[in-house]
Amino acid sequence: MFQCDIKPFRCFHFYRILLLALLALSGTIYIKHLSNPCTIKDLGYEVSNTRKQYCRNGLYDLLSLRPRKKGEPNCSKIIKGDSDAIKRGLQMNAFTKGKYVHLNEQNYTNITQDCHYFKEFRKYITIPMSKEEEDFPIAYSMVIHEKINMFERLLRAIYAPQNIYCVHVDEKSTEQFKAAVRAITSCFDNVFMASKPVQVVYASWSRVQADINCMEDLLKSNVPWRYLLNTCGTDFPLKTNAEIVRTLRTLNGKNTMESERPSAGKRRRWEYHYEVDDHISETETKKLPPPINTPMFTGNAYIVVCSDFVKYIFKDPQVQQFIDWVKDTYSPDEHLWATLNRMPDVPGSSPYNDKYELSDMNAMARMVKWSYSEGEILKGAAYPPCTGAYRRSICVYGAGDLSWILKQHHLLANKFDPEVDNIALFCMEEYLRHKTIFNTDV
Ligand SMILES: *[C@@H]1O[C@H](CO)[C@@H](O)[C@H](O)[C@H]1NC(C)=O
Ligand SMILES: *[C@@H]1O[C@H](CO)[C@@H](O)[C@H](O)[C@H]1NC(C)=O
Ligand SMILES: *[C@@H]1O[C@H](CO)[C@@H](O)[C@H](O)[C@H]1NC(C)=O
Repeated sequence: MFQCDIKPFRCFHFYRILLLALLALSGTIYIKHLSNPCTIKDLGYEVSNTRKQYCRNGLYDLLSLRPRKKGEPNCSKIIKGDSDAIKRGLQMNAFTKGKYVHLNEQNYTNITQDCHYFKEFRKYITIPMSKEEEDFPIAYSMVIHEKINMFERLLRAIYAPQNIYCVHVDEKSTEQFKAAVRAITSCFDNVFMASKPVQVVYASWSRVQADINCMEDLLKSNVPWRYLLNTCGTDFPLKTNAEIVRTLRTLNGKNTMESERPSAGKRRRWEYHYEVDDHISETETKKLPPPINTPMFTGNAYIVVCSDFVKYIFKDPQVQQFIDWVKDTYSPDEHLWATLNRMPDVPGSSPYNDKYELSDMNAMARMVKWSYSEGEILKGAAYPPCTGAYRRSICVYGAGDLSWILKQHHLLANKFDPEVDNIALFCMEEYLRHKTIFNTDV
């Protein structure tokens, strides 16, 4: 049904007929299949509106992620919240559940043997879409362990040639998964695998170590990235690269992440020593207080931090001590970043004064719908009910969630899963691609 996920070669054939040729020739890109070929300049703002429109239409012909079959749900209506379209999307999802054939690990290993073919076939955007974006590279730390198709769709959605991407694959992932990720990353100069992979144990220090290993690798790259964002395997962006760049510029060097005063329950996570083998468990051993002069805060694993923040945590002795101290606490990802971001000397941080309390909804890093905060907004709920399914109290978004989450300011949302609702993911892809090329909603 989604031709490109099921019958890629036929889809590619169709694509070939369009005579795709995005050629990078001494910095000039031609969109060649048009009778009046376009250069990258023609996408910009110096040219007349008709020329720009003509060239952007040409680019969209090549790169649209719109379904090409009749009877597909209308994503334009779904993202506007049209209840009939959403109902049809949900029905179609229920009908096709478990029947989708997504590209698997062997497929990716296979297809990426010809990188040029892979990028065309999967419709990667291989040119910077604007000077503003080109001048503002972003670093991503992506921590994943399974579901190759979801990873590749996330990468495609956040990919831009001027950015840099570190992918940390869990040591415990299967060899086929690692091989497929290695094959995908090898097709890009600016996507690489973390040099020191670790085995990630849920709620343990290893989750932070994975990000830190990527950060260390990203600092070594010669891409002058300005901000770092981290993702896990079930995230998906709500904004285009251009929108992300604009948001980061307005942050003006500040970081954005959830950071709030901890409850008594959360405090327990660092009052006791925790032991880790293949899972984490509390002991009766009390820990010493944290080796910092400022209070502890809690948040989540998702951060948006400036490059100086990342440099600082590797060289400041007090931060190093604090990092050593949190290693035997429960889920340090949820208090390490949140606390660092309220320490006055840390680049991009905010004062630890109460006026700077920031909830996950007010921070921009991640849109997450928790089961216990959903309901009727008129009756005081934080967000409307989840239309997908809950996993560990977190909504895996369905098609009916899109119109609301797309109105939020967050750069990314968690969680998406094609096995729960492929239409939701599919409409997000189409929406973002359309907006990337035309700067308007689909
Ligand atoms: C989808 O709906 C929009 C209106 O929101 C309409 O303009 C468009 O033609 C529809 N597309 C299809 C393929 O039916
Ligand atoms: C690998 O590619 C070949 C040639 O395109 C194809 O015949 C084969 O089915 C593919 N195998 C897998 C596992 O994707
Ligand atoms: C993907 O792999 C399956 C077998 O695992 C194969 O049937 C299918 O043709 C492959 N598709 C592509 C595009 O290689």
